[in-house]
Amino acid sequence: MNELITKLCQSFGPAGREDKVRSLIIEELEKLHEKFFIDTLGNLVVTKGNQADKKILVAAHMDEIGLMVTFIDENGFLRFTNMGGVFKNILTGMKVIFENGTVGVIGQEKIKEPKELDFDKLYLDIGARTREEAQEKVKIGDTAVFLASFSQEGRRIMAKSLDNRIGCAVVIEALKRLSPLNLPNGVYFVFTVQEEVGLRGARPVSYRLKPHYGLAVDVTRVGDTPEPEFKTSVSLGKGPAVKIKDSSVICHPRVTSLMIEVAGKNNIPYQLEVLEKGGTDAGAIHLAREGIPSGGLSIPCRYIHTPAEMVDLDDVENSVSLLVELLKYSW
Ligand code: CO
Ligand code: ZN
Repeated sequence: MNELITKLCQSFGPAGREDKVRSLIIEELEKLHEKFFIDTLGNLVVTKGNQADKKILVAAHMDEIGLMVTFIDENGFLRFTNMGGVFKNILTGMKVIFENGTVGVIGQEKIKEPKELDFDKLYLDIGARTREEAQEKVKIGDTAVFLASFSQEGRRIMAKSLDNRIGCAVVIEALKRLSPLNLPNGVYFVFTVQEEVGLRGARPVSYRLKPHYGLAVDVTRVGDTPEPEFKTSVSLGKGPAVKIKDSSVICHPRVTSLMIEVAGKNNIPYQLEVLEKGGTDAGAIHLAREGIPSGGLSIPCRYIHTPAEMVDLDDVENSVSLLVELLKYSW
């Protein structure tokens, strides 16, 4: 699983450009002889289990946050806008990479006060001397992601885009461990697009699939670091979090109680999550059609939306177990 996590995190996939991540996942699905299709927006859907019965939708988004080029000046410096929740105050000195392999470093104009710092004070330097030279490598509308190495210390890994490639890895691993014979319901495992720009891929695919309940597998914030910005009782290493609420959804009590019951019966450690700021695909799923009961299985993660997000491999393993056991229960 570690090798898969590394490959997924290192691959390029800002919102709207998930092709490379999707290809990696398809390689895994082909090894497993799973049936799948890609919908019109690019969501990847795997169907498994008893399709004649009720249907469950399990969603994990493939996209990551990134930057999009808006302007190239005569000296070859690029201006950019954010694709998703990029923190402008951590960007200076950061390296980013485009789909074609072009690397750049983010620079910052002089400012008098920290609060003046905004995207219009930042630029991207790809080593070009003129606009023409820059345009040979990059054009307006191209997107870049953080260039960051993958590291492991003990049971903890640090990488870019663990949000949400770790969720993708958890879903793939659960797929591997589940035989159709174990699935009382039909399950759609969906790898969604464009979550980071507003849960956009999950919406139409939920409409199309019309599941009886939905579950988003994604990362969540923790409150166990020195003076965290938001108080939350979720810690790293204490098990997957059962989402109760975030800014996008109030989870359906039948989904949360089923998750808690299954975790208890199988001795899987879990935590309860109330996330004050942030959303997941469950926000889009539960509002599809006439409303779909939805929940979230969250992997605790530090430093979300930075080039070095951190998760604990024990949480990852327990998240796989919880998902596998949960899907053995009929709705
Ligand atoms: Co995110
Ligand atoms: Zn996410």
